[in-house]
Amino acid sequence: MQLIEIKAIKKNFGSKKKLATVIRGVDLFIDRGETLGIVGESGCGKTTLGRMVAGLIKPTSGEMIFDGHDILQKSHREQARGRIQMVFQNPVQSLNRQLSVGDQVAEPFRLLGGLGKSLAFERARLALDRVELEDKYFDRKPSQMSGGQLQRVALARALASKPDLIVLDEPTASLDKTIHAIIISLLLDVQQEFGVSYLFITHDLTLVRSISQRVAVMYLGRIVELATADELFKNPLHPYTRALLSAAPTFGKQIHRERITLKGETPSAKAIPFGCSLQDRCPLVHDRCRSEVPRLVEVNQGHQVECFAVNPGV
Ligand SMILES: Nc1ncnc2c1ncn2[C@@H]1O[C@H](COP(=O)(O)OP(=O)(O)OP(=O)(O)O)[C@@H](O)[C@H]1O
Ligand SMILES: [Mg+2]
Repeated sequence: MQLIEIKAIKKNFGSKKKLATVIRGVDLFIDRGETLGIVGESGCGKTTLGRMVAGLIKPTSGEMIFDGHDILQKSHREQARGRIQMVFQNPVQSLNRQLSVGDQVAEPFRLLGGLGKSLAFERARLALDRVELEDKYFDRKPSQMSGGQLQRVALARALASKPDLIVLDEPTASLDKTIHAIIISLLLDVQQEFGVSYLFITHDLTLVRSISQRVAVMYLGRIVELATADELFKNPLHPYTRALLSAAPTFGKQIHRERITLKGETPSAKAIPFGCSLQDRCPLVHDRCRSEVPRLVEVNQGHQVECFAVNPGV
């Protein structure tokens, strides 16, 4: 069952003279309890999309249907309060350096849950226990803790409002490699227990494959391919996805199709060519890619691709 559906979401940054369209029309949905992975190179707009889904920045246009209502409309904004949370790459970003761990985790119980101080503290202790942090950390300040411990605090704080969806923006990328697996396993346990959905943003293809039910591939502010994790990695169709996988040591050898290398650099968001945004880099480019804008369409069940070479019929 769909938890959230975003439709034709766009985001511009800058003023009229120097306008950059960073998210250029994204449609996707996330089911209840599902993990949807998002991959794509640096600067393609993953964090911007995640921040919009979490309500931290406003889209320039589009719809975001959550529980049947467009939460971008002022009258329905309250509907999503506390129910969509975000955990950042660097936990320090989401925590207050001045406040103790206990105070920070208790805060959402008080502000969103309406609990009194002592009950909120009691819940905060349970929440910290759930993310496997001992009671001795309750009175500590963030500066007295490691990155892995702080990411647990950020997760406990995010969970405090009983969210339906958590946007996880590279939640392990800033942490020591030795604790990646521990944090991921904690995220999976928490998901099982609470039935929460994840929008999981990462550069790590191996990780995204193992934890997501479906994966979306982003290029220059568009989803260019979306499929179940298994299908995407076994049968990547979009030239950009194929290049991305070809370049990864673990996947390059497994791709059944011929490997693809892209030419040149990704254009800036201010100078995206008309038509397909990959046209100047793509070995499969043809005239139509420069004269028409491709759309994301379904080619197999649940497998969507935005490419005229893959999908000549559209
Ligand atoms: N507040 C802002 N003002 C202007 N431009 C912005 C702003 N936030 C993001 N951008 C631009 O939007 C584009 C997408 O940025 P974003 O951080 O979403 O990318 P990303 O895919 O998360 O990259 P990374 O993998 O490096 O985290 C970049 O070109 C970035 O410079
Ligand atoms: Mg980012």
